[in-house]
Amino acid sequence: MSTVAQKQLPLRPAGPATVDRLLEWYDAESRDLPWRSPPGKRANPYRVWLSEIMLQQTTVKAVIPYYIDFLGRWPTVTKLAAADLDDVLAAWAGLGYYTRARNLHKCAATVAKDYGGRFPKPETELLKLPGIGPYTAAAIAAIAFGEKTAPVDGNIERVVARLFALQLPLPSAKPEIKRFATSMVPNDRPGDFAQAMMDLGATVCTPRRPSCLTCPLQTDCHASARGIASELPRKAPKPERPNRYGHAFVALREDGCVLMRRRPPAGLLGGMLEVPSTDWLAVKTPLKKALRTVPVASEWWAIPGIVTHTFTHFRLRLQVHLAIVPVDASLQLWAEPDRCSWISRHKLDDAAVPSLMHKVLQHALKNLDA
Ligand code: ADE
Ligand code: SF4
Repeated sequence: MSTVAQKQLPLRPAGPATVDRLLEWYDAESRDLPWRSPPGKRANPYRVWLSEIMLQQTTVKAVIPYYIDFLGRWPTVTKLAAADLDDVLAAWAGLGYYTRARNLHKCAATVAKDYGGRFPKPETELLKLPGIGPYTAAAIAAIAFGEKTAPVDGNIERVVARLFALQLPLPSAKPEIKRFATSMVPNDRPGDFAQAMMDLGATVCTPRRPSCLTCPLQTDCHASARGIASELPRKAPKPERPNRYGHAFVALREDGCVLMRRRPPAGLLGGMLEVPSTDWLAVKTPLKKALRTVPVASEWWAIPGIVTHTFTHFRLRLQVHLAIVPVDASLQLWAEPDRCSWISRHKLDDAAVPSLMHKVLQHALKNLDA
């Protein structure tokens, strides 16, 4: 039945000619991004890897300054491997998802130690490295090594679902989309093909209003022919993101230092610095109970308003409290003094402080400087 419908459409099936049109478009319109080589040229594996790790869950625009900064500090994978983890985490602060930064450092160390500073081929070997999943392995293999493989990110997923008018909702549609994407990969320019699909998805085949009229693939596109482009890919309903609540305590010493605590190495924001807080729970901790857990005995002010931060699996809502304490203030035992340190508030920008904690500090301290 769908065969009948498709026969009636004046469509070419997406095939080699489609890919040729796409590559022609890429030759003329590709985005000039700092990690790319010109169309037709393979890119440096270290640069591809670094950019791909940064681009996971972060936009191209946000990544560019970080990418340039990293490459300036650590121009080779060997240099990055030799860097101090804290320096890497500090340079990463603001990009979010710090496990990526730890794995970045771990992966650099593995490449330096086990592979003589050269990223290994083929894709299956890349897949064994820390922080490199199926998408990233395929992206590096295709873009840096010219292997015939199809990395499928969100942009490519959307373009493929539309080109073939695939109706299955995400995430169940992923294997099918991967098969269709793989079927399109050309022998000669797999890396350019992948990046052309990414660019098409980012600039033409956009999520809400695809510009089908200016799209180089319109004559091949089943979704456009049926007028359902903006409905695809279909998505299964999102799981709810539940709230979690906590109280955070910003202790500001009279010499301008703030009490910060190192989080345990594993888990959420692992190894990063935090403002001490109550546990983040699904129910609100009553103020009275929260105040029994303050890290320093003092008079604490509740700052009006709350700080919110969205993690993958929950939304955090923090009530922030501030105390100004003397230089000889001592820490309560339950604050785990071994993991605590007093850090000048002006040095916090350079330290491994995640953006959530910058929000908390900013919220607590904004009125002091007025
Ligand atoms: N997103 C992920 N990888 C990318 C790349 N190589 N070019 C543009 N956007 C990307
Ligand atoms: Fe996307 Fe429209 Fe191009 Fe199809 S024709 S690939 S839906 S922009």
